[in-house]
Amino acid sequence: MADIDPSFIRLVPAELAIIVPTFNEAANVAPLVEAVARALPGVRWEMVFVDDDSPDGTSEAVRQMAQSDSRIRIVHRYNRRGLASACIEGILATAAPYVAVMDSDHQHDERIVATMLARIKQDGVDLVVGSRYMEGGGLGDWARSRVLASQLATRMASRLTRVPMTDPMSGFFLMRRDAFMRSLPNLSSVGYKILLDIAASAPVPLRIAEVPYTFRMREHGESKLDSLVLWEYLQLILDKAFGHLIPPRFMSFALVGGFGIFVHFLVLTLMFKGLGISFDISQAIASIVAISNNFFLNNALTYRDQRLKGRSLLYGWISFNLVCATGAAANIGVADWLFGRDTYWILSAIPGVLISVVWNYAMSSLFTWRRK
Ligand code: GDD
Ligand code: MN
Repeated sequence: MADIDPSFIRLVPAELAIIVPTFNEAANVAPLVEAVARALPGVRWEMVFVDDDSPDGTSEAVRQMAQSDSRIRIVHRYNRRGLASACIEGILATAAPYVAVMDSDHQHDERIVATMLARIKQDGVDLVVGSRYMEGGGLGDWARSRVLASQLATRMASRLTRVPMTDPMSGFFLMRRDAFMRSLPNLSSVGYKILLDIAASAPVPLRIAEVPYTFRMREHGESKLDSLVLWEYLQLILDKAFGHLIPPRFMSFALVGGFGIFVHFLVLTLMFKGLGISFDISQAIASIVAISNNFFLNNALTYRDQRLKGRSLLYGWISFNLVCATGAAANIGVADWLFGRDTYWILSAIPGVLISVVWNYAMSSLFTWRRK
């Protein structure tokens, strides 16, 4: 410590925290810090990288920079995934009165951050969004299919959440921390669309301004957005529409369960009617196929943020079978009891099914996808 010039030690706290979620972005982080530093002279900023234990060593790259620049910080999450939750936890990890969220891959134009900050200070707004869809903004060289998908999702978002933004799907924005804190208790935190989530969760509509920019091409690495994010987007929209009556995870679990019933009857019919195999065996195999189908779908969709892999995948499958077997027993027990008390057969069956869905959901969240 003795050889450090005291003037290097920065005692001035940041007024702007830039939250940067990362997953496998090792090659992008250092150039990003340089670009931001160049774009924000005279601003007291800090950068909070939120890394989900990227196998490519992103967190080490960030820590290395942080050793020579105290404006660089890291939140390192282990056994977790998820863009929205990463942004939220990054915002919660700073004391700065203004927070911005920005991708690490240079697709968001850091040169407009200074304008965004000026707007929020002057215009008395809560949120400034970097927009690709307003006059002066653009999509750069995006594939046509992705342009169409993005526009469709944008239209769906404005219809369902009634938030006045030209680009509600943007992952690039700057806001007052106190405004974020008001949305916090209502956030869904699923998936990719953190801005939409924050705006739709605000108890009092946010005052919003927009600044145009042109979306750039990715520098290094690849996009983490795959077709499964569509499912998460649907979960977010459903959660916002049903106002927290039903947890989004349960909705996903129940939808997968409904599909599982279809799979069960498909296999049963094929084997019993089609191949002439005995009913008992057909029914047993259909159950195993349906349960496995539900297990893998829930692992990929419902519990995407804590997906089981390798050996835990096998243990998870075993525990899910046990959970579903007890759930089925409860289902049959309840339905039998009601039927025995002269309840119409369909009315006897429904509570049984509902109880087993809730049971399977509760038990699998305890034993199969338990939080570590
Ligand atoms: N910590 C963490 N955890 N970071 C993640 C995760 C995750 O699970 N998934 C992605 N990221 C990081 C990436 O490393 C990158 O810095 C940023 O989040 C955006 O991810 P990309 O994979 O580059 O997303 P994209 O370019 O396809 O989508 C972007 O543009 C969309 C516009 O339609 C994002 O900004 C979206 O939020 C935006 O909606
Ligand atoms: Mn990107």
